[in-house]
Amino acid sequence: MIKITGVTKIYPTGTPALRHLNLHIGAGEFVSIVGQSGTGKTTLVKMLIAEERPNKGTIEIGGWDISNIDPNDVPYLRRQIGVVFQDFKLLPKRTVYENIAFALEVAGEQRHRIHQVVPQVLEIVNLAHKADSYPFQLSGGEQQRTAIARSLVHRPKIIVADEPTGNLDSINAAEIVDILKKINEFGTTIILVTHNREIVNHLRRRVITLHGGEIVNDENEGKYKL
Ligand SMILES: Nc1ncnc2c1ncn2[C@@H]1O[C@H](COP(=O)(O)OP(=O)(O)O)[C@@H](O)[C@H]1O
Ligand SMILES: [Mg+2]
Repeated sequence: MIKITGVTKIYPTGTPALRHLNLHIGAGEFVSIVGQSGTGKTTLVKMLIAEERPNKGTIEIGGWDISNIDPNDVPYLRRQIGVVFQDFKLLPKRTVYENIAFALEVAGEQRHRIHQVVPQVLEIVNLAHKADSYPFQLSGGEQQRTAIARSLVHRPKIIVADEPTGNLDSINAAEIVDILKKINEFGTTIILVTHNREIVNHLRRRVITLHGGEIVNDENEGKYKL
């Protein structure tokens, strides 16, 4: 599903962020990527959504080499990979429902389709009762669940979550991880990026450790064999 081969990223400032990275992630896996701050985790996420390009190496998603993707094809890629960020990135003047609907509107979806999909994804994150609330009326956990619902609207094959629990207390963090597990059970590949190893310790799934832009450990305690 995801095949990263010999990827090196050096930012224009000269900072090396990833060094000759090789990584395979299979369809349906739940993979956590852990590592201290500044080890290249977000850079890896940006590679996967084509927000940054590698200096060397290739990134294949479902057999499609996106390392030199045409900018016109990026929106198509972004429908296949849902992204969740630490800071939620919700529109403050729109309700939960409208925030999610907006992601479909910009993609040109028809009104009846939007009315169908938004309640479905709200149900998945247990937020149907908050559809008419504004972000400021929600807890941090609820805001992140809204962002996760929004990431699901195009039924992506992959969800990448970059520090999704970074602004949450441990109870809300556990709830977010549970929702990601539930989405994974539907068959979606999940990549959970965090500097907090405690979050992933109890998951009993594959954990990749990055250090200095390199993979220093790749442990697989789940059902998937390496
Ligand atoms: N846009 C950028 N320009 C220059 N250097 C960057 C940029 N983004 C990240 N870096 C550097 O690349 C390295 C990896 O950063 P990042 O991928 O954000 O790490 P992490 O997400 O693990 O904290 C760090 O040294 C960081 O300072
Ligand atoms: Mg980061």
